[in-house]
Amino acid sequence: MAKIIDGKRVAASVIVTVKEAAAELERGKSVKPGLAVVIVGDDPASQTYVLAKSRMAKECGFASIQHTLPAETTQEELAALVKTLNEDTSVHGILVQLPLPKPLKSDPVIQAILPEKDVDGLNVVNAGKLAIGNLAGGLVSCTPAGAMVFVKRTHGEDLSGLSAVVIGRSNLFGKPMAMLLLAANATVTVAHSRTKDLASVCRNADILVAAVGCPELVKADWVKPGATLIDVGINRVPAPENGDGKSKLVGDVAFEECAKVAAVITPVPGGVGPMTLAMLMANTVIAAYRSVGQAAPDVC
Ligand code: GUN
Repeated sequence: MAKIIDGKRVAASVIVTVKEAAAELERGKSVKPGLAVVIVGDDPASQTYVLAKSRMAKECGFASIQHTLPAETTQEELAALVKTLNEDTSVHGILVQLPLPKPLKSDPVIQAILPEKDVDGLNVVNAGKLAIGNLAGGLVSCTPAGAMVFVKRTHGEDLSGLSAVVIGRSNLFGKPMAMLLLAANATVTVAHSRTKDLASVCRNADILVAAVGCPELVKADWVKPGATLIDVGINRVPAPENGDGKSKLVGDVAFEECAKVAAVITPVPGGVGPMTLAMLMANTVIAAYRSVGQAAPDVC
């Protein structure tokens, strides 16, 4: 049976160091890290995520600013808010919750956020720094950064000789995850919906990372014995076994059967999810330190 990574415990350890770093910055420089979270519209899932982000920011000792805009907000109004937040020196991190309601376009908004305040790591400047292996100078997207903490705590800093497969090629996760694995010397394959014989590609992976949003796609016979399995999927599926109309969350990995083959596995919920939030706090404290010309202490 595989070792199950407790994402809540690892995330809590990151939060402890973030809180210490924030308190130290306030003591030494009188600067309180400021995180602005922007949500447009009333999507219930997005509201839940944003509430969790604002609460955690307060718990970390940050100034937490939430902007809730109506679904009818125009592209220009959203751009004006981002401009105001870019110019506000008390704001060190800006996050615009995605997806935006139609017809708003997310890319112009993301690209308008100052790279040094882009705690989502989605601006082309931060994506580009990651692509050229400049991990220390930019901000890395939170979910891949969190998944990478698990990989490094399992395999160490150097993944030389290990084969890693990432299923999914999104800008938010798949691409930055592949770049992080590559920067740590893994031999990386990015698989996606057009990949032929996905099962055999996955069977080659010492580290298999699934982020496709397809419930329990990865089966036990896709997994190399002894592999590390990182499940980034969060899928709500019907659970009639729990009663009429009930549902449950599952990942992109068929957990029970894969746990019999893998050496290490992350659960859903309670795996990568809590790390996304912790890494957002880490990025905010890093951005706040940089705003006063200091390097942030290593918070992971
Ligand atoms: N929606 C789902 N995940 C994310 C994320 O990591 N960042 C933003 N901005 N929106 C999201």
